[in-house]
Amino acid sequence: MLDYKYSIEAKNVNKIFFKKSSSVNALSNFNIRIKRGSIHGLLGPNGAGKSTFINILGSLVKKNSGEIKICGLNIDTHSKSSKFKIGIVPQELNIDPFFSPNELLELQAGLYGITKKNRKTEQILDNVGLLDQKNAYARTLSGGMRRRLLVAKALVHSPEMLILDEPTAGVDVDLRKSLWKYIQKINAEGTTICLTTHYIEEAEELCDNITIINKGKVIKDDTKQNMLEIISNKTVSFSLTKHNTIPKSLEIYKPVLKENKLTLSYDKNNISIKKIIDILNLNKIEFSEINTYESDLEDVFIKLVNEK
Ligand SMILES: Nc1ncnc2c1ncn2[C@@H]1O[C@H](COP(=O)(O)OP(=O)(O)OP(=O)(O)O)[C@@H](O)[C@H]1O
Ligand SMILES: [Mg+2]
Repeated sequence: MLDYKYSIEAKNVNKIFFKKSSSVNALSNFNIRIKRGSIHGLLGPNGAGKSTFINILGSLVKKNSGEIKICGLNIDTHSKSSKFKIGIVPQELNIDPFFSPNELLELQAGLYGITKKNRKTEQILDNVGLLDQKNAYARTLSGGMRRRLLVAKALVHSPEMLILDEPTAGVDVDLRKSLWKYIQKINAEGTTICLTTHYIEEAEELCDNITIINKGKVIKDDTKQNMLEIISNKTVSFSLTKHNTIPKSLEIYKPVLKENKLTLSYDKNNISIKKIIDILNLNKIEFSEINTYESDLEDVFIKLVNEK
């Protein structure tokens, strides 16, 4: 058994796509390390290079340079064995419409050389909630069911790592939550997960670590917790019971008064909300309600992408 710390280790990966008269650096000196056992989010705007990287891992796209190891195996020198380590759920719902889920999984198991008695077709279909549809033509499945079928297909060879390129795009809220649960379950059972998503709350809910990329480059790579600390700014608003003039002592909190709603910003690492309330009391400013707002991953994402 090969011992490894990172399920994915990529160093200085470059990929250039040549179009008719121009070229695109889909990945430039791209580096990433995905810890074994973690759930890692790959976030970035459209065209950032997320799918390109995943397609390189799945040998659908050839990199121009750089080194990639999957579960400790170099993909250039161990192309077949490294591929066995991962299961990929692609962004596109490319399913042969004339296969049933059962046939599709059996075919996939055959491709991976899994003997009949070692196959887990029924169990996998049950896990993704498609047992009832196991003999239906794939073309009769809904979008959400197709995505779950692709998850099932990626798990046929019991990979050590599951990579999902936008697993919940176009999936309704209930189903999204049930997919999250399933992802968390297989992660708890030991499967490393990498996912891309445009739903920031999905990354916030699931991921231990996050890499944000833009235009083929990594712009931030950290734990989710540290990412959330990037913006330490917090906002508090008070519903004032009557109209007041804003005292000078509040000016440092960038006060905005709109229809008797007073909004103030402060650095949560330096100032407690009590201090602000004390100033209001001192100035006899009465309020009936307090609301606080703390930045979430979405704010961090927008800040980082716009900065670069
Ligand atoms: N086969 C291809 N031929 C030419 N250009 C390509 C090809 N595949 C991707 N690109 C270009 O490479 C860049 C990165 O695309 P990629 O699909 O990796 O982005 P992405 O981060 O997955 O975006 P999205 O969030 O929209 O899925 C884009 O500029 C895209 O137009
Ligand atoms: Mg993509």
